[in-house]
Amino acid sequence: MSWRDHGIEALVQPDEGLVSPEIFHDQELFDIESRKLFMRTWLFVGHESQLVKRGDFISTYMGLNPVLVVRQRDGGIKVMLNACRHRGMKVCRADGGNSRAFTCTFHGWSYGLDGELNNVPMQDTAYGDRLDRSQYGLVQVPRVDTYKGLIFANFDESAPSLLDYLGDMTWYLDALVDRREGGIEVLGGVHKIVHRGNWKMGAEQFAGDNYHAFLTHVSASMSWRDEDAEGDPNPLKAGLQFTSRAGHGIAGWRKNGMDDAPYVPSPDYELVAKYYRDTAAEVRNRLGAERVDGPSLTAGNVFPNFSYLSRVFCHNSIGVWHPRTPDTFQYWRYCVVDKAAPPEVKRAIMNNMHIWPLGVADSDDGENWSEISANLTSPAVRDTMLNYQMGMGAARDDHPLFPGTITESYVAEESHRNFYRRWQEFMASDEYPDLKSGVLTATGATAGKE
Ligand code: FES
Ligand code: FE
Repeated sequence: MSWRDHGIEALVQPDEGLVSPEIFHDQELFDIESRKLFMRTWLFVGHESQLVKRGDFISTYMGLNPVLVVRQRDGGIKVMLNACRHRGMKVCRADGGNSRAFTCTFHGWSYGLDGELNNVPMQDTAYGDRLDRSQYGLVQVPRVDTYKGLIFANFDESAPSLLDYLGDMTWYLDALVDRREGGIEVLGGVHKIVHRGNWKMGAEQFAGDNYHAFLTHVSASMSWRDEDAEGDPNPLKAGLQFTSRAGHGIAGWRKNGMDDAPYVPSPDYELVAKYYRDTAAEVRNRLGAERVDGPSLTAGNVFPNFSYLSRVFCHNSIGVWHPRTPDTFQYWRYCVVDKAAPPEVKRAIMNNMHIWPLGVADSDDGENWSEISANLTSPAVRDTMLNYQMGMGAARDDHPLFPGTITESYVAEESHRNFYRRWQEFMASDEYPDLKSGVLTATGATAGKE
């Protein structure tokens, strides 16, 4: 029986901990998602360190929509649709760079950094006085804002402010992006990995799934584990999971940093671990004791598709799960470091991108996602609800140190339930969906939670 017989509301039952596999496969749901989710949520489009000079630009996507993110002559940032107003060609096919204009390679319409249509070849001959260029600039994405260097944009003018949207998540993000004066910077280019699977498989995993790590990644972790190390061989087991009604989540917040991870010693690892020890007092003064070592050995996700992975084998990365089709997505990953870190530490963190995000471990995850996708060609599999019940009833909203909804990280799918609850609210609502319970604030205070 198709989901159409019961409506979108039946696809996700967060209070029962049940999710329909249709949400990972169905073309019609994907089409609804591309408008009702990706054209109303705040989406990460780049980092300010990628746009240093005026005319610097990044080419990326907001959902399926191709966009250019451009540093303006006045220092501001504009985000605009990368689609020529003549026939829809991309006006820029480079991944990024610096430019004075964006000139379409089909017939040569040329747009300024601000998206204004400045030149049309042979305009007088071709159009006489019928073409009003002021009406045919690139479509602007109306909402653009930054959070400590992270650039977000939103097509929906009625959406809440970025700060309100992020809510409690800012407290956790700060431990990645605001450890030291100057924040973080992106090093190098963007790694783009094509996966078979639905983008939500990656997003939900980063929002809350430490449970998979030591089975899915057992062979990878054996390659870097120090056989002689003492202590718990499964460092992800301990820690806290954060989630919020806004759909954000963190797979696990772990104290004690890298120092007790049973990694095979390496010069890079030692260098980076020492850097975190050396900067601990500074971070404690800046953010407080709870965030000195966090986030560590963990992943997080800002609803819907902006993720990070922190301090896993001494690298840090941020990334975006870009949907392509119901069954394919691209994961874009950026290496990030404290801007104030010494060059040798930056180099060590960059060197180790291949260990987890671009090497042995990502392919483990990709194998799961592609196998699930293959199974979803089966109508009987799609008719069978999936179990998301782990840790139901165990969450608390009154943790004395950590804002938001908190559970133990290894044994909870509270993040998943909140992710899909919020997903369903966007999918089912024609208006911008208010949080039905709880209004998250930028200060970390949360009012009226369930
Ligand atoms: Fe761009 Fe014709 S499609 S100038
Ligand atoms: Fe994984």
